[in-house]
Amino acid sequence: MDHPGDVENRRRSAGEQVHGARHTPTQPLVIHYAQSIWQSNAAARLLQIAGTIAPGDIRGRIFREPTSSSTVPGLVLRMLEDLEVEDGMRVLEVGTGTGYSTALLCHRLGDDLVTSVEVDPDVAARAATSLAQLGYVPHLVAGDGLAGHPDNAPYDRIIATCGVHTIPAAWLAQTRPGGQILATLSGWMGSSELARLTVHEDGTASGRLLGGQVSFMLARPHLPPALGMLPDTRDGYERGAVVGADILDDWTARFIAQIAAPRGQRLQFGDEDHLLVDVKVGTWALLRRTGDKWRVRQGGPARLWDDIEEHIVQWRHDCTPGLEKLRVTVTPDRPQHMTWSTRS
Ligand SMILES: C[S@@+](CC[C@H](N)C(=O)[O-])C[C@H]1O[C@@H](n2cnc3c(N)ncnc32)[C@H](O)[C@@H]1O
Repeated sequence: MDHPGDVENRRRSAGEQVHGARHTPTQPLVIHYAQSIWQSNAAARLLQIAGTIAPGDIRGRIFREPTSSSTVPGLVLRMLEDLEVEDGMRVLEVGTGTGYSTALLCHRLGDDLVTSVEVDPDVAARAATSLAQLGYVPHLVAGDGLAGHPDNAPYDRIIATCGVHTIPAAWLAQTRPGGQILATLSGWMGSSELARLTVHEDGTASGRLLGGQVSFMLARPHLPPALGMLPDTRDGYERGAVVGADILDDWTARFIAQIAAPRGQRLQFGDEDHLLVDVKVGTWALLRRTGDKWRVRQGGPARLWDDIEEHIVQWRHDCTPGLEKLRVTVTPDRPQHMTWSTRS
C-alpha cells in the first residue's frame, strides 16, 4: 500500500529524471527512469498475448502475437520529443498499454490535459491502477481509440502508440487546426514509419514521415483480414518480372510497395515463391525465381505486381529516397495519399 508521501517522492524523482532525460537523452538514465517507475509494480509491465493471456500465466514457447506490450523507453521519449508538446496543450493518446507514456504526458502537462484510450478493458484497468499508484489521474477511456474521444476534443496533439493502416477521419475531426497527429503508418507487408501531420482549417492533414523504422503493433481494428482460401494460381496471366520479389526484403522498398498495394499481404513459400494477395479486391500475384530471373503470374480484377513495379521503378529512378522524404496527405473522405520529394 502506498503512503501519500511515497507517491509524492516517486512522482518527484520520476519528474526530475524525465526532466534530465529530456535534456540528456542517454539510455542509462532512461532505463533507470523506467525501472524506478515500474519496479514498484511489476504487474504493470505485463504483456498480453492474443487478447487474453498474461505471460505470467503460461510456461514454454508462445506461438501467438503479443497484443499489448510496454514500449521501449527510448522510443517513448523520442516520440514525446517528436510530439512537440507545449504547456497547456491538450493531448489524446491512443494505446495506453502499461500507462508508461501516459505517466510521462501527465508529468509534462498535468493530468487534466491528458486523455488516453485503450481498447482492451483489462489492460486499461491495470494501467489505471498503476497510474493512480504513481499519483496520476488522467482521463482514461476503455474503447476504440480510432474513434478518438470527442468528449475532450479538440486536441492540440494526438499520439498513437499502436500502428494504424490509415489515419482515422475521427482524429482529423478532433484535432484543432494547427494541431498535430503523431502516429506510425503500418502496412500489411510489415513495413512502417512514424508520421507527423499538421491538421489544417479545411479538415485535411499533411506532413512527413520522420524516419527511424519505427514499428508498433497495429491497432486491433486495422489488423489485416484473414487470408481465407488462397487463390488458384494456375489462373492468371504470366510474364517476366522487371522487379523481383526480393525487393520486398528491403524496409524502404517494402514501404513503397505498400503504397502501391495498400491492402496487399505477402506469403513466402521457401526462397523461390512469393504470393501477394489483396483479399478485398480479390487480386493476387505469384512471383517465382528461376536462377537469377523472376517471373510473375497475376490474377483478379487488377494487376497487383504491375502497380508495385511501377512505384519501385519510379522510386529507383528518383535515386531511392529514404522514407523521411515521403509526404503524407490525409483527406477525410479520400484514400490517404503519399508521395516523395526528390529535393533534399
Ligand atoms: C505497444 S502497446 C502501448 C504501449 C504503451 N505506450 C506503453 O508504453 O505501455 C499498444 C497498445 O495499443 C492498444 N490498442 C490496440 N488497438 C487499439 C485501439 N483501436 N484503440 C486503443 N488502443 C488500442 C493495445 O491493446 C496495446 O495496449
